[in-house]
Order: sequence, then structure tokens, then C-alpha cells
Amino acid sequence: MRAVIVGSGSEIPSKAVTNQMLSRIMDTSDEWIRERSGVETRYYVEPGTATSDLGVAAARRALESAGVEPVGVDLVVFATMTPDHYFPGSGPLLQAKLGLRNVPCYDIRQQCVGFLYGLQLVDAQIRARLARTVLLVGAEVHSGFMPFSPANWDYLYDRADVPPTPAEHAWNSRFRHLTVLFGDAGAAVVLRAEEDGSRGIIDSILGTDGAEYDKLYVPGTGFKHRPYTDPEQFARGDHIPVMDGRYVFKLATTRMVEVAQQILARNKVSVDDLSLVLMHQANRRINEHCQKMLGIPDDKVLHNIQKYGNTTAATIPLLWDEAARSGRLRKGDLALLVAFGAGMSWGATLVRA
Ligand code: ACO
Repeated sequence: MRAVIVGSGSEIPSKAVTNQMLSRIMDTSDEWIRERSGVETRYYVEPGTATSDLGVAAARRALESAGVEPVGVDLVVFATMTPDHYFPGSGPLLQAKLGLRNVPCYDIRQQCVGFLYGLQLVDAQIRARLARTVLLVGAEVHSGFMPFSPANWDYLYDRADVPPTPAEHAWNSRFRHLTVLFGDAGAAVVLRAEEDGSRGIIDSILGTDGAEYDKLYVPGTGFKHRPYTDPEQFARGDHIPVMDGRYVFKLATTRMVEVAQQILARNKVSVDDLSLVLMHQANRRINEHCQKMLGIPDDKVLHNIQKYGNTTAATIPLLWDEAARSGRLRKGDLALLVAFGAGMSWGATLVRA
């Protein structure tokens, strides 16, 4: 029994924001962002559109491409670090909006590795015969983390001509190493139990080192505080993630290479056997380093960070969907998926499409 990915879909918000546009409201430049991260544009939702909305639109497309009716879904796993509400998670909201039966809906975090943790969970559920047809969704609305004032948003979009005050400009610039990297998106896959073991998830290796959690985390708005949120936390900017970029960069390159080597060795798979390698899209330089260390040729690696930025739980299913729809990924192809993110967590999955 294997869990086979039989359909995929994605949803990109309509509002494209270039690096040059961001340089209108903070001290940054197109050149810096491109060179250091590979990001050229990212997309943001309009206020009122939430993570579950992106997930629902992506899931509809995934179900359509799989030829599965909503009534056929018997499990949902929703990976996001930016849920619509503190609770409940976005899984139940998606269940209701899609009109699914009253099936179990898991909400998982695991940030940039959320999709790979989700794949392992779905694989286990399917192998244990607890589910047969599963929706796995990765979606994020990171724009809620952006520290810009309403007037700055208007200026960014050229809807008003009042530039940021010096204080606003300094405040926006304080978070520039982080904010320029992220975008909003949703992506989903449908997995189905298939008795014929030739396709599907072959193996997963996941890891976590919580000792490093504070290298990338949100210091405020949590239940370590009483009350869990207050104006002082906002004034300090504690609702915005803290990231030690250089440190995370080093950890990411080390862990991603290690976990990729482990899964290839454990399954006696060589780079030549792989059709495609899909890596989490946090920084193009991280992925180029991993590619070099693993000896993977350029034509086996797909990038989309230039178009969407880092969309956290959505990056890998988004790559999968683009590859499947463009014909770059075909039935029977062997793909290696690798990711690293806040937690710190990492993972690799081997899957035959
Ligand atoms: N525009 C212009 N200059 C900037 C910007 C910006 N947006 N951001 C930082 N700088 C400046 C810094 O202030 C610094 O200036 P200084 O030398 O005068 O002090 C200089 O650029 C270099 O800063 P570094 O932090 O050393 O730059 P680096 O090359 O490391 O790139 C980056 C920063 C892009 C954040 C990189 O470190 C990175 O990608 N790290 C990993 C991120 C990651 O993988 N996150 C995990 C996934 S996310 C998740 O799990 C939720």
C-alpha cells in the first residue's frame, strides 16, 4: 500500500510586489534582494483574504486535477504557520468552505518543513488504512507579519502619494532582512491509497533541533505572556519574527545536504536515478549550495523563489504543481523533496510521481 500524489493545485494572490516597490518604503534595493536571496517578486493578498482562502482555492484545483469530488476526501492535513485564527486551525475552515464530509482535519505547523511533515503523516495514515483519499494543503499569508502602516501599504501600491515618515522608514528597515523574503501563496495535493506499490511516497526522514528555536521565531503574541498579546509587545515589534539569517543559512545548508544524503543512501538511490529535486525556497543561494554539494545537475532542480519569494509551507507543493502542469514531472518520475525551517526542523522525502 502506498500514498500516491494524484493531483495538485495552487493559488497565487493577484497583487505582485517587486523589489523596487519595496524600496519605496524601506532601505533596500532590487540589487541586494536579488543577489542575496534570488527573490524578484512576491505576491500579497488584500486584507480579508486568509490562509484558508488560499488553501481552499488550491485544494479545489488539486481535487479537479485528481478527478476527486469533495465528498470523496476522508482526511485533511493543513500545514501553515500563519493560520486565520489563533484557534481553531485552518483545517476545519477549509473543510467547511469546501463542503467536505465531517472528516478528521489535522492542523500542523513545522513552518517551512510543514509539507514534508504532512506527507509523512498522510503516508502513515494511508498505510495504516485509516484514510484512502487525503487533501494535504500548505498555505501562508505572510503579509500579516509585515510591519508597514496602512499609509505605507497605500504608498507601496501607489494608491496614495504620502511617503513613509523617517520613523516609519526606519521601522520598516529594521525588519528588511526578513520581510523582503516572504510572499503569500497556497498549494495542495491529493493523495490516494494505491495497492500497486510502484508509485507514491517511498521514504521520509524528518528531524528537529528545538535547542535552536530562537534563531527563527516570533518572540511575542504567545501564551508565555499574560495576556498573550498587548500593545507593549506590538510597540517592541515582538509580533514580527526574529531571524538570525546568517546562522539559519549555515544550519539550512548543513542539514539539507545531510538529510538528502541519508535518504538517498538508505534507499540505494543515486542522483542519476532522480528526475527532479524540489527544495524549499528560502534562499536561492542555500539551494545552489546544496545542489553543488549533492552533485545535482541544473536540469534536475526547479526554482520559483524568483517569482513568489519564500511561501513557507506552500513552496514545495507549489513547485510540484508547476512541474506537474508544465509536463516537467511525469508519472513514474522519481523526485527528491528537501526542506529546512524554523523549529529548527528539516526533512527529505523520496516520492515516485
Ligand atoms: N536590503 C538591503 N540590505 C540588507 C537587507 C535588505 N533587505 N537585509 C539585510 N541587509 C544588510 C544587513 O544590514 C547587512 O548590512 P551590514 O553589513 O552593514 O551590517 C548586510 O545586508 C548583510 O547582511 P547579512 O544578514 O549578512 O546578509 P546575508 O547575505 O546573510 O543575507 C538573508 C541575509 C537573505 C536573510 C540570508 O542570511 C538568509 O537567507 N538566511 C536564511 C533564511 C532561511 O533559510 N530561513 C529559514 C526558512 S524561513 C521559515 O522557516 C519560516
